[in-house]
Amino acid sequence: MNTNSSKTAVLIPGDGIGPEVTAAVKRVLEKAGSEIQWVEHNAGIAALDQGKDVLPQETTDAVLEHGIALKGPCTTPVGKGFSSVNVQMRKKLHLYAAVRPVRSLPGVKTRYENIDLVIIRENTEGLYSGVENEITPGTVMSMKVATEKGCTRIADYAFDYCQKRGRKKVTAFHKANIMKLTDGMFLNCAQKVHDEKYPAVNYDTLIIDAACMKMVQNPGQFDMLLMENLYGDVVSDLCAGLVGGLGVVPGANIGLEHAVFEAVHGSAPDIAGKGIANPLALLMSSVMMLNYLSDTRNCANSKQTAQKIKHAYNQTLADGCKTGDLGGELSTEQFADAVIDRLNG
Ligand code: NAI
Repeated sequence: MNTNSSKTAVLIPGDGIGPEVTAAVKRVLEKAGSEIQWVEHNAGIAALDQGKDVLPQETTDAVLEHGIALKGPCTTPVGKGFSSVNVQMRKKLHLYAAVRPVRSLPGVKTRYENIDLVIIRENTEGLYSGVENEITPGTVMSMKVATEKGCTRIADYAFDYCQKRGRKKVTAFHKANIMKLTDGMFLNCAQKVHDEKYPAVNYDTLIIDAACMKMVQNPGQFDMLLMENLYGDVVSDLCAGLVGGLGVVPGANIGLEHAVFEAVHGSAPDIAGKGIANPLALLMSSVMMLNYLSDTRNCANSKQTAQKIKHAYNQTLADGCKTGDLGGELSTEQFADAVIDRLNG
């Protein structure tokens, strides 16, 4: 049951840098006057360490009950071990649309200025079906799944987002020249949804390899990007690199009734426990969550709190207060303090 109480949300700290960045973000939200009451649950290695499943049923149930979660990253072992908590959660909760805004930030100097992209990634199908088999010793297979329903609803989400928010255009990245059935279905569904429901939205398509080349040469030619699961995963990190890295790109996993907000980055084992991770990507994800609360529930102070936090982190960066990944010297907590200092300025 989704209680849809405007004031409760699930907090999943995750593992690696997750607990550090979630603690910092929670503190900023409290100081900004957010009325959210957190219901904390574990997932990932943090849950395993407590003798629970990697994605405990109680955690999924809590998101189903409260409808919304802010989540830290969760580690997935490479080439062995348990399957990804993130993939499991997105599938179980039908969080079919990953929304990832990628924007230039004040005081963060990168090769390009004024980047303003939104990636819409299909979040439940493709090669993330997790169906892999050994056919014969020495030959393995991974199944790429595309359904008409899945391809249609993600395209609908992207065009609707573009239209409602007055964005300029949607570009679908694909490899339908090779994967004629799966990516072919993705493209056909998108074209059909476009023609039938959103003919006024500017829409084009590009083969993904050339699209990546164009993206690093001239990102300004893109606006909204629509793609299936694996391409969206890879292109998200590519685009993060255009605006300062994984420390500054937020995300939302949106379903019909539930939504989980998390940064694009992972658990960053190389810096975990050092107190130096950039909490900004998760803080920006929390701003997306507050705006979502304001749009979908009667949560009066959410929009105001979101604006306050956004203004404060932009000012913090403009003042040159940054963590190490952006060339600064602040720790995770010092960056959070610097944002808090600017909440009322
Ligand atoms: P990663 O995003 O964790 O790290 C890549 C690089 O970016 C590292 O050098 C890291 O230090 C840096 N970085 C990432 N976030 C940062 C932050 N907030 N501040 C400063 N630097 C930051 O990607 P990687 O290494 O490929 O994956 C590590 C683990 O995270 C894997 O187990 C992977 O499966 C998992 N992962 C989890 C995700 C999730 O929970 N949504 C998403 C992506 C990866």
